Amino acid sequence: MSETTSVIEVCIAGTGSYLPENILTNAELAIRVDTSDEWIVTRTGIRERRIAAEGEFTSHMASKAAKNALEQAGLAAEDIELIVVATITPDTPTPATACHVQAQLGAFKAVAFDISAACAGFLYAMKICKRLISDGAFKNALIIGAEKLSTVTNWEDRATCVLFGDGAGAAVLRRSEPGEGSIVATEMGADGSLTHLLEIPGGGSACPITGENVNKHLHTLTMQGKEVFKVAVNRMKEAAEKVIERAGWHPEDIACVIPHQANLRIIDAIADRLAVPNERVFVNLHKYGNTSAAAVAIALDEANRTGVFKRGDHIVLVAFGAGLTWAAAAIRW
Ligand code: COA
Repeated sequence: MSETTSVIEVCIAGTGSYLPENILTNAELAIRVDTSDEWIVTRTGIRERRIAAEGEFTSHMASKAAKNALEQAGLAAEDIELIVVATITPDTPTPATACHVQAQLGAFKAVAFDISAACAGFLYAMKICKRLISDGAFKNALIIGAEKLSTVTNWEDRATCVLFGDGAGAAVLRRSEPGEGSIVATEMGADGSLTHLLEIPGGGSACPITGENVNKHLHTLTMQGKEVFKVAVNRMKEAAEKVIERAGWHPEDIACVIPHQANLRIIDAIADRLAVPNERVFVNLHKYGNTSAAAVAIALDEANRTGVFKRGDHIVLVAFGAGLTWAAAAIRW
């Protein structure tokens, strides 16, 4: 699914993020499972991750990130007409986490719903909301990626528990004024024949919550890492190339690529294949690990707030996740 042109241009008016205070280092993980800082850093690039407090839910992190984004955009909660939360760790299976966020922000004029596209969810939300704004249905939207992956991590499985972390990132989308930036091209895709490569098998209608299923850790993430790795590199490269081509850009025109923050080796492989120098690829996974739908959103906010790119720069976001799903966006900032 893709599009190149729209009558009303849509820009990112503000970004925000929130990371829980509690830091879990590789050294601390090595006390729990048979791993080492050296193995984790060499294979993934991750050095530490954040873990939300017990009473801190996905919606709380989402709302904090959203408030930062609203403040930067100079908008109030009541200006928001649409809230989309991308998450695989909603507060509750129903209602949507976006509804909790709506109430926490006091954004009572907003339509609110969640989308489940795993790590690609924030960019799925971007494409959907861009279209809804450019069609004239809404003026201002909040898109949020938020996860409390610590609740779906098997802390006895060294192959997965070293990878994930908690956090949230948000962006305010609104109609562009003349001379402002815009989301130039977007892309998203999925391959449902590969659902088994990365999943939480329990907790849904196929495998409801029972004591036995929980004892078997079926409510936690399982992954065939090597297989996911290969598909991730290929699909992210293809998705990024599509939006770059549709935008009419060349690799040398791109000021910053913000990829999904899962594994530094995946990021390096993509940079290499896109022929974008490593110094133009934004990386923060050493601090936060893989925060699924939140990862690209947090990275976008950090890059924005630290001046990695400036108005008019061309940036590319690209992500990949369970489903398998992938998505990309080319943005003129
Ligand atoms: N510490 C130490 N050893 C570990 C380990 C850990 N945390 N996790 C796995 N190992 C071991 C394995 O048991 C295996 O041992 P063996 O050779 O004796 O069987 C060995 O390390 C190699 O494991 P393997 O799974 O082949 O490693 P890898 O190089 O593929 O790296 C991942 C594993 C998970 C880091 C890597 O496959 C990956 O990042 N995949 C993509 C994951 C991803 O991006 N997921 C999210 C998508 S949104």
